[in-house]
Amino acid sequence: MKGYVILVSVVAALGGLLFGFDTAVISGTINFIQPYFGLNEVELGWTVSSLLFGCMIGVFLAGKASDLLGRKKVLMLAALLFFFSAVGSASAHQLILFVVARMVGGIAVGVASILSPMYIAELSPAKYRGSLVSLNQLAIVIGILVAFFSNYLLVGTGENNWRWMLLVMAVPAVLLFFSLFLIPESPRWLVARQRNDEALKVLIKTSGAEPAYYELLEIEQTLKNQEEARYSELFLPKIRPLLFIGIILAVFQQITGINTIMYYAPKIFANVGQSNDIALLQTIAIGATNVFFTLLAMSLIDRFGRKVLILFGSGGMMLMLMGLSALYFLKLTSGVLVLVFIIGYIACFSASLGPAVWVIVAELFPNRLRSKGMSIAVMSLWMACILVTITFPMMLERLSGGITFLIFALICLANLLYIWKYVPETKGKTLEELEKQFENSSI
Ligand code: BGC
Repeated sequence: MKGYVILVSVVAALGGLLFGFDTAVISGTINFIQPYFGLNEVELGWTVSSLLFGCMIGVFLAGKASDLLGRKKVLMLAALLFFFSAVGSASAHQLILFVVARMVGGIAVGVASILSPMYIAELSPAKYRGSLVSLNQLAIVIGILVAFFSNYLLVGTGENNWRWMLLVMAVPAVLLFFSLFLIPESPRWLVARQRNDEALKVLIKTSGAEPAYYELLEIEQTLKNQEEARYSELFLPKIRPLLFIGIILAVFQQITGINTIMYYAPKIFANVGQSNDIALLQTIAIGATNVFFTLLAMSLIDRFGRKVLILFGSGGMMLMLMGLSALYFLKLTSGVLVLVFIIGYIACFSASLGPAVWVIVAELFPNRLRSKGMSIAVMSLWMACILVTITFPMMLERLSGGITFLIFALICLANLLYIWKYVPETKGKTLEELEKQFENSSI
């Protein structure tokens, strides 16, 4: 049973791998596409962010489409979009085609960012749900690392190097598409479509025969006699606090600054006067740290809970950012300490906010409203990501690193206090138990 659930989760998490790859691959291509398309800084900023705008469209479509067609079919469509985006952006000779192809990839990232964790959460037994949903974050960070590596390996392939870098994504896209044939539809979605027999078969495979009947009953109860969910229901007094927590967590995950490092690390290293090849090597060290500490989080998240991880992680991120800020104020940025604080910051993020936010956002909402609630929370995540991605270069230039990183440190503190006070622990309970718990408590 455990083996089956892991296999199914790994397939779904391939969506996360493509999410990580597609968002990070652009960093290595920037120096080549800028002269090729003749872009100034502002145009470059918009070209890079085009993917993120696509993400928002993807999230918006994913909620509705996955309620109608099922989680699995929509993930298949996303795999196709990843493929077309890879081929389209790699072969584009005009900027507009390049931007459209990147946006198409963004739509797929948006879809995968919501459906992979949702599908895994809906399929896993409560006991391992945290680790299994974190598999998705592991896949994201592996995707990022693979992109950094593959860019590094392909940089010497001549004037079309950036095309090869982008084309690589077609491989995992094809893999995702075909491996999706191996996995079942989400039992919670099947019950919502009155296909209870099929749902039971899936539950027997994931949870074992006896618990499966009990789970099926529970799922039926949460969905019984209920019409199609509406977005407006998310604002009902019982659900509103959950929506609020989902949005705030998603926004905090981004405005505590992770993608200032993920997307702009080479720029930061250049800003403190380091050369290009050293910067590239350091990026790989960052990617590897990301993977290692995500693995650590996976082994801890169902034992200690989501909340403890986030509290320690946010505290650590705050201290690391304060250290980084101090280096700028004291003009000590030329040594190895910049890298030490950045790596420390990444380690704290990967062991906490990275996986835990996706896990909680996938667990928070009742069965009927999950896809709609998640899409609003994840949409907020991408909006916050766009905000940070667009403003960071300006902040670094106008406010200096000292003030910029101090601001991010203060945001980490706010995150820590908010989570400590308002976010409920969700470990170890079935999604239906959580649903009852939230209904009867005033969060
Ligand atoms: C975040 C991404 C980020 C990645 C880095 C994910 O959880 O949502 O924005 O790039 O972690 O590890």
